[in-house]
Amino acid sequence: MKLSRILRNILKWTFRLVLLVLVVAFLLIFIAYWRSTNDCKDLTAARGTTMKAIVYCDYGSPDVLRMIDIAKPVPNDNQLLVKVHAAAVNPYDWHFLRGTPYIMRLGVGLRKPKNPRLGVDFAGTVEAVGKDVAQFKPGDEVFGGKTGAFAEYVCVSEKGVALKPPKITFEQAGAVDIAGLTALQAVRDKAKAYPGQKILINGASGGVGTFAVQIAKSFGAEVTGVCSTRNIALVRSLGAAHVIDYTKEDFTKGVQRYEVILDNVGNQPLLSMRRALFPNGRYIMIGGGGTADQGLLGPLARPLKAMVLSPFMSQKMEMMMADPTQKDMIQLADLMQAGKVTPVIDRRYKLSQVSEAIRYLEQGHARGKVVIDVP
Ligand SMILES: NC(=O)c1ccc[n+]([C@@H]2O[C@H](COP(=O)([O-])OP(=O)(O)OC[C@H]3O[C@@H](n4cnc5c(N)ncnc54)[C@H](OP(=O)(O)O)[C@@H]3O)[C@@H](O)[C@H]2O)c1
Repeated sequence: MKLSRILRNILKWTFRLVLLVLVVAFLLIFIAYWRSTNDCKDLTAARGTTMKAIVYCDYGSPDVLRMIDIAKPVPNDNQLLVKVHAAAVNPYDWHFLRGTPYIMRLGVGLRKPKNPRLGVDFAGTVEAVGKDVAQFKPGDEVFGGKTGAFAEYVCVSEKGVALKPPKITFEQAGAVDIAGLTALQAVRDKAKAYPGQKILINGASGGVGTFAVQIAKSFGAEVTGVCSTRNIALVRSLGAAHVIDYTKEDFTKGVQRYEVILDNVGNQPLLSMRRALFPNGRYIMIGGGGTADQGLLGPLARPLKAMVLSPFMSQKMEMMMADPTQKDMIQLADLMQAGKVTPVIDRRYKLSQVSEAIRYLEQGHARGKVVIDVP
């Protein structure tokens, strides 16, 4: 009798405590949501030397993007000031623009984007360097990544760029950073590609896919690319030994097995992917999902499912997140200079047309990279 009363009390107080925690958490999120703001007003009131840049003061569709004059940045002691000649759009940009999946807003601004600048990939010419910069000098042609790349100038740390290989154009170099680094790290570090390895690349004709096919081929792997009919010739020309047209054939239902699947699309159930792998194969999740599939977790839901399934299967399933390093940008530059990797350019837009470029990318059928020319 006494014991049951003690248990009832414990349950009652636990319930009250959980309720209190939930109410406090809700209040904190509510306050944080309404306090969430950005420096859009200061940006638009820029005086002195200015430059054109693309900004978004609120989350939304590409319609919320505006090209405005903002203060031209000044490099600190460790930075380079780069005149941007070309930039490129990535799904990363629309994730930030829309603030989806919503879970990411915990880091980038609950109600409004903390940083209203957009774009990462760029290539250009160094205009000035800070006093502690040792690797670069004015006049050097570089490529790299920096938030706010949809602009006439960026200030970037020297570790954020590499010398542009003479063999490639600014447009090509400006398309490399996110997609090229992701493909390199997926193929080299996750797939651990080697000569003869059977590797399937789902989404072989997109930004990441066109780099991944070429990089895997340069490691000697036997690449199978998956794309639609109109991209078969492109994917084959990039070095795929086999191409599967997903409009006619489902690779997970075929007899062929692969040592590695690199998945840029995330359109097949995990158990189907497993069927297409050798018993000791690896499934590498790079991305997937369009603007309509985001919700709270978006592409993060898939690795969570994989974690639940992994104890019951022999194959390895893992997600990858690209880690931008100068060492890898230099490796990509060497591959490009050697002619082993050539960025594939689909469409070109002007800086004033970034919203159109992102709208096109959001359709999910870019062939290689979509580039922004910056005069
Ligand atoms: N984990 C990371 O660090 C990381 C880094 C970069 C990107 N990502 C993610 O990786 C994904 C791919 O990025 P991306 O830049 O390559 O995107 P993208 O350029 O927009 O990819 C478009 C390509 O996807 C292909 N595609 C669409 N549906 C397909 C299907 N059912 N089967 C096969 N291919 C299909 C299209 O080919 P068709 O026109 O022939 O349909 C098109 O060529 C995105 O989700 C992105 O967010 C992740």
